[in-house]
Amino acid sequence: MKNHTPKKSIDTIILAAGQGIRMKSNVAKVLHQLGDKCLLQHVIDAALPLTESISVVVGHNSESVKNAINNNDINWVFQKNQLGTGHAVKQAIPNITDSSICLILYGDVPLIQTSTLNTLIKNAETTGFSILTVIQKDPSGYGRIIRNSRQAIQSIIEHKDASPKELAIDEINTGIMAIRGLLLKKYLNELKPNNSQGELYLTDIAEKAVKDNVNIASFVCENSSEVMGINNKNNLAEAERVYQQKLAQGFMTNGLTIKDPNRFDCRGNLIFGCDCIIDVNVIFEGDNQLGNNVVIASNCIIKNAKIGDHADIKQNSIIENSTIGSHTSIGPFARIRPETRVGDHAKIGNFVEVKKSSIGNNSNVSHLSYIGDSSVGKDVNIGAGVITCNYDGVNKHQTVIDDGVFVGSNSQLIAPVTIGKNATIGAGSTITQDVPSEKLTLSRNKQVTITKWKRPQKKKSSTS
Ligand code: UD1
Ligand code: MG
Repeated sequence: MKNHTPKKSIDTIILAAGQGIRMKSNVAKVLHQLGDKCLLQHVIDAALPLTESISVVVGHNSESVKNAINNNDINWVFQKNQLGTGHAVKQAIPNITDSSICLILYGDVPLIQTSTLNTLIKNAETTGFSILTVIQKDPSGYGRIIRNSRQAIQSIIEHKDASPKELAIDEINTGIMAIRGLLLKKYLNELKPNNSQGELYLTDIAEKAVKDNVNIASFVCENSSEVMGINNKNNLAEAERVYQQKLAQGFMTNGLTIKDPNRFDCRGNLIFGCDCIIDVNVIFEGDNQLGNNVVIASNCIIKNAKIGDHADIKQNSIIENSTIGSHTSIGPFARIRPETRVGDHAKIGNFVEVKKSSIGNNSNVSHLSYIGDSSVGKDVNIGAGVITCNYDGVNKHQTVIDDGVFVGSNSQLIAPVTIGKNATIGAGSTITQDVPSEKLTLSRNKQVTITKWKRPQKKKSSTS
């Protein structure tokens, strides 16, 4: 809208007041997620580049719908009772300019494309009224498009009001239309609830336009999934796959190797360099950026991450709000929690959790460790099972591990604590004080052997 060009005189109405009973959910239908956005947000985003104003008609769960949409320019229109699509559009009429083209969209038809809407609008600019239709293999439930012998649209008949002959028609009304504001107002005022549902049908404006000698431009959408409506969880899953496949196809066209686009999910933005490979069941969330030659193995979740060239993310790893350097390997089964920076040529191995820490270049944390609130220098080796004890039950404390440090396995570093440059910590130590550089420090008890000790023996039973 305000920030979008090109500007045309187009006002949009999105219908979203229905309850969506078939979703069997307490969440408003239009707030169910598709990719990274709710259904309604997809529709708004499709219209935004084209329109000067957007009015959304809300009813059921109206407050939660308003709160979920982060756009101050939306005109929210409240429809108290759902008395039909015609009644819903009527509620938004004060926001429609006579001379503009009014674009009518449904909040539960989320895959509609801006380019399709653009064509629909162009048609309406020529004739005054344009309807988006589609051929459906199974048209049941939808309004049928009635054409005359010259193929001109005459009217739309709802399924519940259709004769057997009309029910056989497979061209259906998608519900999406564009019409000159003045005409819309005129025909809406003439609507009567003379139908099986006792509602004001928006679709009845087609017949009124024909009577008024308006030539309705019809635009048959080639891709039926683009205009699919979401009525239940089956539709939602189907739309999600359509959406993900389209994203995957775009990424592959731009050179990303995706082992199986049916098992690929991106809920946000993905930027990638050359020769990146994504194995099956990887989920990207938020804003992610991959350098060149990044390999992400199966079952990883990558969220708001920046991953450097030649990084190797092994199976079942989770990376969130973090930066991974180049030539670094992560996992398998590693968890990189927010605010972590791992340097170049580093290694975070299996069952390692890192939180809010920096790990320097060439440093290894190879097995079964927890590194939290820590600053780890370069060329550091952290042995298996090392824990930074960063939490005293109330506060979090920092651990500083300088360059070249070697921490022996199964050591606990009780923060706040600093380990000096090139220090070595003996395995099994509990470090409670700062450790000097260049020295070996250990806190374990001396090993003793009891020479006269005998292992207890089981007494033999008399019966055996
Ligand atoms: C409508 C069309 C039908 C078309 C189908 C496409 C009418 C009369 N019928 O039927 O021709 O084939 O969509 O999916 O228009 N809504 C409101 N307020 C209301 C009623 C509906 O906001 O009072 C909203 C709903 O939330 C929904 C949309 O309008 O987003 C469509 O309503 P719905 O009841 O699903 O219409 P259909 O019977 O499917
Ligand atoms: Mg419907």
